[in-house]
Amino acid sequence: MKKNTVLENVRIDKLVFGGKGLAVHPDGRKIMVSGGAIPGQTVNLRILKSKKNYLEAQIQGIVAKSPFEGDLPAHYQVYGGCKWLPIRYDKQLEIKDDQVKDALRILRDKLENTVFHPIVASPEIYGYRNKVEFSWGKYISDREGVRDEFRFGFHKQGEFDRIVDCDYCVLADDRINEIFAAVRDYSRDSGIPTYDPKTQIGFWRHFVVRKSKSTGATMLVFSANTDYEGFTRKEEGELLVFVRQTLVPKFPEIESAYLLRNTGKADIVTGEAVKIHGSDTIVENLLGLEFEIHPKSFFQTNSLGAEKLYETALSLMKGQGGTLLDLYAGTGTIGILLAKRFDTVHSVELVPEASADGKRNAARNGVKNVEFFAGKAEDFVKAFLASGKKADAIMIDPPRDGMHPDAPKTILEFKAKEIVYVSCNPATLARDLVVLLESGEYRLTDVVAVDMFPHTHHIETVARLERVS
Ligand SMILES: C[S@@+](CC[C@H](N)C(=O)[O-])C[C@H]1O[C@@H](n2cnc3c(N)ncnc32)[C@H](O)[C@@H]1O
Repeated sequence: MKKNTVLENVRIDKLVFGGKGLAVHPDGRKIMVSGGAIPGQTVNLRILKSKKNYLEAQIQGIVAKSPFEGDLPAHYQVYGGCKWLPIRYDKQLEIKDDQVKDALRILRDKLENTVFHPIVASPEIYGYRNKVEFSWGKYISDREGVRDEFRFGFHKQGEFDRIVDCDYCVLADDRINEIFAAVRDYSRDSGIPTYDPKTQIGFWRHFVVRKSKSTGATMLVFSANTDYEGFTRKEEGELLVFVRQTLVPKFPEIESAYLLRNTGKADIVTGEAVKIHGSDTIVENLLGLEFEIHPKSFFQTNSLGAEKLYETALSLMKGQGGTLLDLYAGTGTIGILLAKRFDTVHSVELVPEASADGKRNAARNGVKNVEFFAGKAEDFVKAFLASGKKADAIMIDPPRDGMHPDAPKTILEFKAKEIVYVSCNPATLARDLVVLLESGEYRLTDVVAVDMFPHTHHIETVARLERVS
């Protein structure tokens, strides 16, 4: 089949993890559908790739709506980051639950005695995010006859150098949207150029708002290119004046603001963090404890959802006493929440700023039995084992890519009584569980999916392994 061929009246059967739709061609080949597919929809498709075993296609037009499409919030816009917004929330939960089960199917007979608990819903489905990352950019296309030097919003789905203007983000609350609008108006009127990834010229790159759900304390991070041809340093001065004299008086909940000198080519929020207003960190309360968050630290982005996730992980971890390893610990949250149940907790986190937050968070909550290690979990477990130390229970919460390939094998050598694995990617969870379960020393007792990210394809899963021999 030729590229750009149009297939008419194709039904979307389901969504697979990652958010693509799945349909079947009359010749039996599977079609991976991009462009915001909804199960139950009938669409016209344009073929992008034709392989022997499957096709890739893009939605060209909707022929019939899906019965799973629900009512949309008043001022919604669907961006790449909330592409499931048209799908009813109960259906989103069903799809995510199925995706977790599908991903774990590779464990086959290892699942025989596993209890799959019902998916845990997010307490809020709109305005739930405590952190939103906006991007500045341009939209210049000679082919389309567009020359727009100022865009501020989100990346266009699948097009990382294109920004779509945001009017209102329904995943953020009203106040975050108001701050975003004030920054948009100021930056547009400032005349200071937005960053162009092709030439690396321009100042404005990313704008991150973090807001504590419990206290309302807000932190702003302006990621800007402070080293380009034409940069005069006055840009930084003008931003500082705007934050202190305009933004903070209008939004007194802004307790902290940073400029991130982001001069690298990669489109990521990174660089030297220079504080331009207020305190170093903001504080969030979760399950009765206080956690300080540094601008460079990972923190779960749905605070009420994080409480559900942690309650789930804490209830699956049955152990008491002895030593707990909290691997991929971020700001120390899970280890600190579990500290009173164990004699000693070792909290292991790669990012030094997050590990330092963890240390302060333990002290802030009067927790004295957590040791913090800033470094790679895979190196820590090897060194810990080599020094002859024991672990009775292990909590694992890695990033999307899962654990380093060496880590699961080392973890098995501890012969810990139980392991709880919190994962934001069912595919890498399944991959790592294969290694943890293959020796037969552990059985997978429980699996719970927790939805922390309504209207997106993302899903958290908590899995518990118990030692059998
Ligand atoms: C999904 S987050 C979980 C953080 C924490 N458990 C929580 O609930 O907030 C994963 C964390 O692992 C850290 N990380 C990434 N690679 C790592 C590695 N090789 N060793 C240790 N930590 C790592 C990241 O910086 C991030 O803080």
